[in-house]
Amino acid sequence: MSLANRRILLGVSGGIAAYKSCELVRRLRERGAEVRVVMTAGATHFVGVATFQALSGQPVRTSLWDEQAEAAMGHIELARWAERILVAPASADAIARLAHGHADDLLATLCLASAAPLYLAPAMNQQMWAHPAVQANLATLRARGVHVLGPAAGEQACGDVGSGRMLEPHELRDALAASFGDGALAGLDVVVSAGPTFEDIDPVRFIGNRSSGKMGFAVAQAAAEAGARVTLVAGPVSLPTPPGVAARVDVRSAAQMQAAVLDACARADIYVGAAAVGDYRPAEVAERKLKKQAGADLVLQLAENPDILASLSARPRHPFLVGFAAETHDVAAYARGKLARKGLDMIAANQVGGGLGFETADNALTLYWADGELELPRTGKAELARQLVAEVAARYKASRA
Ligand code: PMT
Repeated sequence: MSLANRRILLGVSGGIAAYKSCELVRRLRERGAEVRVVMTAGATHFVGVATFQALSGQPVRTSLWDEQAEAAMGHIELARWAERILVAPASADAIARLAHGHADDLLATLCLASAAPLYLAPAMNQQMWAHPAVQANLATLRARGVHVLGPAAGEQACGDVGSGRMLEPHELRDALAASFGDGALAGLDVVVSAGPTFEDIDPVRFIGNRSSGKMGFAVAQAAAEAGARVTLVAGPVSLPTPPGVAARVDVRSAAQMQAAVLDACARADIYVGAAAVGDYRPAEVAERKLKKQAGADLVLQLAENPDILASLSARPRHPFLVGFAAETHDVAAYARGKLARKGLDMIAANQVGGGLGFETADNALTLYWADGELELPRTGKAELARQLVAEVAARYKASRA
């Protein structure tokens, strides 16, 4: 995948894996990227400034207090210049400083001052990697939408074996290239629904389901990476809006999700329904908390919810429709049934239950359309979503040809 004219800011922090970042600069430039390197003071103990200068063909910055560069607010210029910031290696200290918003050296300041997506390639001893302080800092950064690439497991420079090796330069290059997407959905409006719906019983109780929103949020991000203008309609989840997503509408119930999806789809080219929409809701919502009646069962009457996908396909002009099917058994038969019954162009079926599909970090899908199918084997939801989006783009284009 080309990186022609892409502007990558490579931050190098202090760790022995800094030697691999020299190779990384070469790999990025081979694909056409412009690379500017910023080193922390610690990094300069491992690799010389001249090495990165020669490999990047650009001056290397190491200090916030460079009078010449800062005469023209050099750090702000660099922060604006970058399309992606990759910190590789990201030491435990660099991760902690970024998590806590420090701004007392050039790299940390740049990360705060830039709107560019931030990627970290952690590298450290396996014991440090496993430390709760490091993991808590990473959780904070992930929750802010920072992308963490790796680390890999294996033999380490210190002789230990375990997790904490920086990913290889070609793996980091490929991850950055994928983050730009191939423009397969450029110029298109895509609406994605994600997460569960909650159907209130009374002011304190509701009927919900186990969807975390991870799959749908990954689809929204992948569609944005592929160049689409994405509107994400999210059920009640606690996930940050993925980078690149143009608009987000938060909803709670199936009826609210239907209203938001129908509104956004008035001008959409593609709708992907990854949300786990409740099929039923309590027929009546109690205004006050229902009181326990000791010794008596409580019977709830449920009313059928509207089917969002079916209501879209019933419209004379509707977007290309992609549904999901979450099944515990007979996956293919149920998925094909929903494809036909709901009037869809494609359906992505996943096996759920027993630790699969819901809430997990990875997933597997089988895609079905009228005269074909494709298996996408188990992998992380971000990567799986990219593969799904590539297939949706291809089938969308075929349908419009
Ligand atoms: O969120 P995660 O924890 O990452 O989990 C991901 C997932 C398992 C929720 C996701 O991969 C998935 O399968 N989403 C669809 C879940 C679902 O509701 O499937 P279903 O088979 O019940 O519904 C079929 C399709 O109809 C879905 O596209 C659904 O959005 C849509 N639907 C369902 C009911 C309804 N009233 N309106 C709808 O549009």
